[in-house]
Amino acid sequence: MSKNFEVLEKSLREGTGSGTGTGALAHAGLTREAALVQPATIPPRFRVPDDVAEEFIKLKTNLAVGRSAQPLRVILVTGAKHGDGTSTVASNLAIAYAADGSHRVLLIDAAFHRPALHRIFRFPRDPGLTDLLVGTGDFEEPLKASPIPDLTVLTAGRPYGNPTRLLEGERFTQLLAFARERFDVTILDASPILPYSDARVLATKADGCLLVIQANHTQISAVERSKRQLVAMGAKVVGAVISRQRHFVPEFLHEWV
Ligand SMILES: Nc1ncnc2c1ncn2[C@@H]1O[C@H](COP(=O)(O)OP(=O)(O)O)[C@@H](O)[C@H]1O
Ligand SMILES: [Mg+2]
Repeated sequence: MSKNFEVLEKSLREGTGSGTGTGALAHAGLTREAALVQPATIPPRFRVPDDVAEEFIKLKTNLAVGRSAQPLRVILVTGAKHGDGTSTVASNLAIAYAADGSHRVLLIDAAFHRPALHRIFRFPRDPGLTDLLVGTGDFEEPLKASPIPDLTVLTAGRPYGNPTRLLEGERFTQLLAFARERFDVTILDASPILPYSDARVLATKADGCLLVIQANHTQISAVERSKRQLVAMGAKVVGAVISRQRHFVPEFLHEWV
């Protein structure tokens, strides 16, 4: 874990991120994979340039060859502050897992303070996670099949007064147990760590946490504080992603901004 951050610090100091579009730097020395181009089943709106897709394939590989004895089944994606690129990275990572044809993927919008996945995937915001957690209904019901094969999305749901409490509850634990049974990988798009406690609560329930760091923007002290807070909760920080190293706006963001 600390090694990842040494690599990160070095790359921030020297300006040598590990890639072009979105740099994954969990581990060094990766080889290029054969199939870099996203499969034709990914709709045009969700396609990214090959080099960006390559970074996400690398990230997936890094997560698979990381130090965990067990494969990561529930991955938390968070950042220090709003706007660091968490939702973009969580979505693209989910697409990368689904695109390899060997993972059933669930992407959950647990970023209650500024949920984004309903806009990215053009779904209604509710029913979604909050509705499911306050209710007693079937976990399957609010899940939405995305236009990407093997990628299912759970949107944030109706605004709810104290969402952190919902994440602490038994029903959320049950939801994750359901997700572990039904899907190969579950990705949680979370609120940023420094302004809210949500991500720290979620971190204890995930198998690993990815920290998204905005290139030329996120301060190293904010990254260190975020990491400390996660580690203090007993969470496993499995790596960091440097976002926005090169300006690239996927089509869905054009529509959104
Ligand atoms: N790789 C990127 N290139 C350009 N703009 C980006 C990129 N990633 C994210 N953005 C922009 O940054 C904004 C915040 O990204 P988002 O993923 O929603 O961050 P967060 O979830 O951390 O708040 C988005 O509205 C989008 O416009
Ligand atoms: Mg977000």
